[in-house]
Amino acid sequence: MFKKLRQLGVVPVVAVDTPDHGLRLCEALLNGGLPVAEITFRTEAAEATIRAAAKAFPEIALGAGTVLTVDQLKQAMDAGAKFAVAPGCNPTVVSAAVAHSFPFAPGVCTPSDVERALELGVKTLKFFPAEASGGITMLKALIGPYGHVGLEFCPTGGIKTSNMLDYLALPQVPFVGGTWIAKRDLISGEAWEEITDNARDAVARAAAR
Ligand code: 3PG
Repeated sequence: MFKKLRQLGVVPVVAVDTPDHGLRLCEALLNGGLPVAEITFRTEAAEATIRAAAKAFPEIALGAGTVLTVDQLKQAMDAGAKFAVAPGCNPTVVSAAVAHSFPFAPGVCTPSDVERALELGVKTLKFFPAEASGGITMLKALIGPYGHVGLEFCPTGGIKTSNMLDYLALPQVPFVGGTWIAKRDLISGEAWEEITDNARDAVARAAAR
């Protein structure tokens, strides 16, 4: 799954308030040529949205974001998510995902986080919060001692059109993620065309890497 996301290069991170908005959002992303979404468990609607979108749009790589508990992980898997990510590296949640061979990228931003993730047996990591924890300079510093063990880092947090290509230029970065493509107010305001335009722009930029 993470290999497929590398081909796309960019993952919209979203929070939706209703499954109906989730379905319209998926449509808007597809219209922009971006068949992927990370639906975060920051709203009550996350599980139902993943379930509805997995059924309606099997062509979309649906992920669950902000997965903080084993219960949420199970809800995401049961609803049809194909991958999940978390802002931090919770050993209990990561171990549960590994036990189910479910693609899970825990969040890291320090060498100790990276080593904890390595010990748990995951190699695709979310570098979060990317910009606030030192950006590309910090990421390059982390790649120094850990690049040779085959780790991949997916930066999110402060990524936008102006800096995404800097990260994507690194071979250890399969994709970047962020909310800029479909901000919560765009979704709640039903600005589907704007979301489609943002998705199209992001896809074009990622393709230029
Ligand atoms: C995430 O969970 O990946 C971040 O909240 C995204 O951060 P952003 O809003 O800066 O894109």
